[in-house]
Amino acid sequence: MVRPGIARRLAVAAAGLVLLTACTPPPPSPPNSDRPESSSTLLGPPLALECPPVLDTSDPFDPGSDGLCDSYYPQAGNGGYDVENYDLDLTYDPATQTLRGVATITATATANLRSFNLDYYGPDIESVHVDDQRAATDHRGGELVVTPANPIETGTSFTVVVRYAGRPRGYPGAAGPSTGFLVTDDGALAIGQPQSAAAWFPVNDHPRDKATYTIAISVPSNLAALSNGVLESQREGPMGFTTWTWRESSPMAPYLATMVVGEYRVVVGSHDGRPLVTAVHTSLPDSVDAELARTTEVVEYLETVFGPYPFEALGGIVVNAPLGYALETQARPVYDQSFFDVERGDASWVLAHELAHQWFGDSVSIYDWREIWLNEGFATYAEWLWNEHTGTSRNGGATAQATFDTWYRIFSDNERLWDVPPGDPGADDLFHQAVYIRGAMTLHALRKTVGDEAFFRILPEWASRKKNSTGTTLEFVALAEEISGQELDKLFHDWLYSPKRPPRP
Ligand code: ARG
Ligand code: ZN
Repeated sequence: MVRPGIARRLAVAAAGLVLLTACTPPPPSPPNSDRPESSSTLLGPPLALECPPVLDTSDPFDPGSDGLCDSYYPQAGNGGYDVENYDLDLTYDPATQTLRGVATITATATANLRSFNLDYYGPDIESVHVDDQRAATDHRGGELVVTPANPIETGTSFTVVVRYAGRPRGYPGAAGPSTGFLVTDDGALAIGQPQSAAAWFPVNDHPRDKATYTIAISVPSNLAALSNGVLESQREGPMGFTTWTWRESSPMAPYLATMVVGEYRVVVGSHDGRPLVTAVHTSLPDSVDAELARTTEVVEYLETVFGPYPFEALGGIVVNAPLGYALETQARPVYDQSFFDVERGDASWVLAHELAHQWFGDSVSIYDWREIWLNEGFATYAEWLWNEHTGTSRNGGATAQATFDTWYRIFSDNERLWDVPPGDPGADDLFHQAVYIRGAMTLHALRKTVGDEAFFRILPEWASRKKNSTGTTLEFVALAEEISGQELDKLFHDWLYSPKRPPRP
């Protein structure tokens, strides 16, 4: 779901500033000076919040834009409509490695649309219908252009049904090979950040357009088919296939949608009145199940610092595919087995990281990929808090302060940690350790500056104010200033945007 109100408000602010600000922020103004506009310049160049509409004055209807002008992925997502719900009816047959899908997308036009785009890299399209009428399509690269039989008026709700089938293909330009639709020995999984959804369903692939999802996956009955949210039903159908139907009723960014098919030990339970589903690949030892079971303990702790867990369901999935990462897929993170290797010791820190993302990343999503630190800095800081809570020493210390001190010391002045500004790391450095570690250090610097009392009010307030929505760095800074009563532009400028080691807070 997008919030046009905020978008328009910020777009107006951005439009006025866009020509005045180059890529580097101007030097910081002295603290406490009178600077009504300085927050948007000290804190990085303004975000481009809306793509310019393609205007044809002879036609009251326009083609929807093919991107949202994200700072790093301008083609991600599409303009001209807002998706409310995806209903995905999928069948995956590991024997033929084919995926068959019927995607029913309910959306509202935010412009008069002659045509509109969906992001799509999946199997061959069989047909597209808009409001039950066959639509014309043009599929090039990752853009599926849909021209409905009748143009759609702004404000109108419409339904798109896309039928497709075939072998999923690779995700071009993806951040590494472990992104998109991945075939495994016994099944498949669809996963990846910053984009992966378009590999398995047509989508408005940007966190700005969050929507609810029903994901029904039919697989051979000896396999499990896991996904986000609540397991609504598990029904045996014809041909020895079973359909697992999942419902994510909180708005979800597309990259947080996942499907995992294979031989899994699935445990269905509940925690604190919420459905709990965990799954571990059958090739992995039972010790992994025991570690994953700490999910509830970690969530309980995180609730004490971030406020109520934001979703209807919870859980986690440990896969045996060599992903090389874990991902905060909504309500049910997916973890690479390597995190649970007994040789690597206690794995609860990665649970703390991915579960913290349920608040920061999933419930409160980023508006623009440039602001990835709002996800990763927060999730990394949650690891530090969890270590402090459990008294576990990891990465240099048991307390958040000790962890901060270690990182501050071990990165010498000319290390890359300081070169890459976490507030604008660049698309190639989206997952750079500066985003994670210096991002977490930013929060610790904030904590030191405003004190524990204010700091531990800012975090849950950010989670509750922005629940099921998106937030920007500027909005976070404004909230921190509101709660602490302090002027914080300089602090955030130094920690997020300066290419050098900030002064010790
Ligand atoms: N957001 C994930 C995390 O929690 C990182 C995903 C990294 N993705 C990648 N392609 N390397 O750390
Ligand atoms: Zn993360």
